[in-house]
Amino acid sequence: MNYLDYVRSQVTKEDWRLLKSRRDINLDAAVLYGMWADFVNFEKRRRTEIPFLVTRLAEYDNPRIFDASLGSGATTFGLKLAGLEKIVANETDSHLANFAKKEAKRLGIDWSMITVTSHDWRKLPESLAETFDAVVSTGNSLTYLFKKGDQLAALQNFRDVLKPRGKLIIDERNYAEHFLKAPDGSKFRWSGDFVYCGKDRIAVHPIHISQSMVVVEYAHLDGRKSHLALYPFKRGELKGLLREAGFREISMFGDYRPNFRPQDPEFLTYVCCK
Ligand SMILES: C[S@@+](CC[C@H](N)C(=O)[O-])C[C@H]1O[C@@H](n2cnc3c(N)ncnc32)[C@H](O)[C@@H]1O
Repeated sequence: MNYLDYVRSQVTKEDWRLLKSRRDINLDAAVLYGMWADFVNFEKRRRTEIPFLVTRLAEYDNPRIFDASLGSGATTFGLKLAGLEKIVANETDSHLANFAKKEAKRLGIDWSMITVTSHDWRKLPESLAETFDAVVSTGNSLTYLFKKGDQLAALQNFRDVLKPRGKLIIDERNYAEHFLKAPDGSKFRWSGDFVYCGKDRIAVHPIHISQSMVVVEYAHLDGRKSHLALYPFKRGELKGLLREAGFREISMFGDYRPNFRPQDPEFLTYVCCK
């Protein structure tokens, strides 16, 4: 399914009407994903995200990892370069998978050695049950799903593919503080220091904020411009879903730190044990 149809299947009728009525919104994923590697800035992201993940995975001996959203490869490639070899990288969008392949070449990573799957999180095959020590879903990915039933199905499936005592590591944007508190976008923050680190090439800001949908604009300095429609998790909502999906021990980090004031971090990361 292309991104436009995917969004249409997710959002309310009112939000879809709004998206279609605004000529300044471009939901062409091919444009957006063409700039994704610049938005990520692999080298910079790797310095913060990968040590955080490696520390959380240290208890496993040669862990088998499911990267739920390969994207341009930030997490999969970072973990590979850190010596973690057993990674299955999942990507449903062919544009992103192609860009990841190019990014692998740029980084000198052998693409043929990476197992790439393309499962929708909402229906992961039973053959994957209890086969992974860890699932990583980073880069604010679950926010692509708007419906509670879909979000829960994805989290339950992530739990199902984990071995007993396996871990899900999942992040989200700090929507409660940096989006929903000010629908005019005045609380939005993007330092470029965490997760999406490509601030030198891309300008990002929300152009629509409501309780049901956020639209974010991505403008490349070469003139390309595209948008994403995302579901803004409310305060405590994702943690509640993780509990509902059956995760018992959940630790929360703000910009990778265990202690933080709610208003400070740009990204919240949850480390959840099965
Ligand atoms: C914001 S991108 C993040 C990509 C990457 N993890 C990163 O940090 O750059 C969101 C990702 O979620 C994937 N995605 C969205 N909905 C999905 C679904 N229902 N099933 C599987 N993947 C999905 C997209 O294809 C994309 O790879």
